[in-house]
Amino acid sequence: MTRSPNKLIPADFATVPGLDALDAAHVHVGEAWDAQAIGIGVPVTGEVPAELGFDREALKNAGFEGAAGTTLVLPRADGPDLIAVGLGEASEVSVATLREAGAAVVRAAASRSRIALRVDAGVVNRVDAISALVEGALLARYRYVPLLSDPKHVPLEALTVDLGTETSDPADDDAAVRAALVTARAAVVARDLANTPPGHLTATDMGEIAMSLGRRFGFDVETHDRDALIAMGCGGLLGVNQGSAEEPRMIVLRYRPSDDPTGRLGLIGKGIMYDSGGISLKPSDPMHLLMKMDMGGAAAVLGAFTALRDAGATAEVLGWLMCTDNMPSGSAYKLGDVLTARGGTTIEVKNTDAEGRLAMSDAFALANEEDVDAIIDIATLTGAALISLGAKVAALLGNDERMIGLLKESSATTDEAIWQLPLERRYRTQLDSDIADISNLGGPYGGTITAALFLDHFTGGTPWAHLDIAGTMQTDSDDSWRTKGATGFGARLLLDVARRFTRP
Ligand code: BES
Ligand code: ZN
Ligand code: MN
Repeated sequence: MTRSPNKLIPADFATVPGLDALDAAHVHVGEAWDAQAIGIGVPVTGEVPAELGFDREALKNAGFEGAAGTTLVLPRADGPDLIAVGLGEASEVSVATLREAGAAVVRAAASRSRIALRVDAGVVNRVDAISALVEGALLARYRYVPLLSDPKHVPLEALTVDLGTETSDPADDDAAVRAALVTARAAVVARDLANTPPGHLTATDMGEIAMSLGRRFGFDVETHDRDALIAMGCGGLLGVNQGSAEEPRMIVLRYRPSDDPTGRLGLIGKGIMYDSGGISLKPSDPMHLLMKMDMGGAAAVLGAFTALRDAGATAEVLGWLMCTDNMPSGSAYKLGDVLTARGGTTIEVKNTDAEGRLAMSDAFALANEEDVDAIIDIATLTGAALISLGAKVAALLGNDERMIGLLKESSATTDEAIWQLPLERRYRTQLDSDIADISNLGGPYGGTITAALFLDHFTGGTPWAHLDIAGTMQTDSDDSWRTKGATGFGARLLLDVARRFTRP
């Protein structure tokens, strides 16, 4: 098949550099033999590692005090650069500190392909420390390069981690490295997908990519096209798709553990490949080129699936990626239209830009038909989430304390920050419609809450948690292990929840 010059992403996602770069990075634990840069952990108080060759006074004079995530590069004529990396208070070193330290060194040594880390992990256990350092380094070196003619980006060829202590079992060290490669993979897949321009990644492409990732990483994939969606009565996704020249796809993922499943978890991702707003057209604002990332929820779910097998998840996990773009045209759905979602709920469309909740509505019915024990949905759903919590914290809502608790724990483990907002049923009347069961538009305030209340209507009371990642889907600048552009937020978080999930 000949490929358009404006469609450079191979349909086979196995060849996209994000994954290739991970495969090419040789990571191991032990002494560095030919590193070009060596990152050395330095806490704010206590002894400065002698190998740095400078005492605390000298480092201070150069402006380095050991604050977490800070670095000081010390080039040398006759050996690798030494990079002092701050660890903060030695007694407070955590997994998050180590992840940041790994990232900071890799950023400070951006032109180096062979990097070593020598860090005293303090009270953090060896396996977690190794994983965190490696994960931070891999995620920080990520960059989206497939559309650059001459990428200046230097990929990581070798990474060595040395905690300054001996392991009792080298197999544990290897497992720690592998664990980091697997979690980094989840995030990198999500980032690549969200960074890909909308013309290069249609809903159909997303389906093909999911198929290829499923074969490679051990999960089943079924894609449903427009005709199939009509047959299934998925009027929410079909309504949003109506104005588009591209077909929609509902992509259903299924991971089965090798042993008897400990539970069945459903994950639903908003997959708006590009959100123009539809007939409620968004103004031409630079912000809106970010709407290629409106499939960030679906990307996070797909990213998490690429890691379930290798992370040894024990629950069965099902995923629904609700994919289409949201376009205005002569055939587009209109304000005042009424859609009928799977399961029969009628929805009055009061704003075609509140499309994510419509596209996802069908999936809740399908998840319940599969008898899932719980549902987590993830969506770049409301600008209000960005306004209320900013770009570093995602909104969490839900109908079930246990699910909320699970997500908060995973948030702490992965350092993907979330904050709970109330599912305030006092606002539910804002979604009332005169001519349908519910409307897709709430009032002018509390938009993140009213959007969640809309989804709540479709959960059928199944334990459910909702992540609104409109704020956290991207970062304007490099920030620790988050590289400028799509963050892949949610992929590692969902993976962590999924691997710990059990039937209530
Ligand atoms: N995809 C947007 C939300 C969004 C905004 C994501 C900014 C990332 C950054 C969503 O579909 C949308 O347009 N939401 C509307 C809802 C409104 C019409 C009720 C919004 O937030 O303005
Ligand atoms: Zn949207
Ligand atoms: Mn929208």
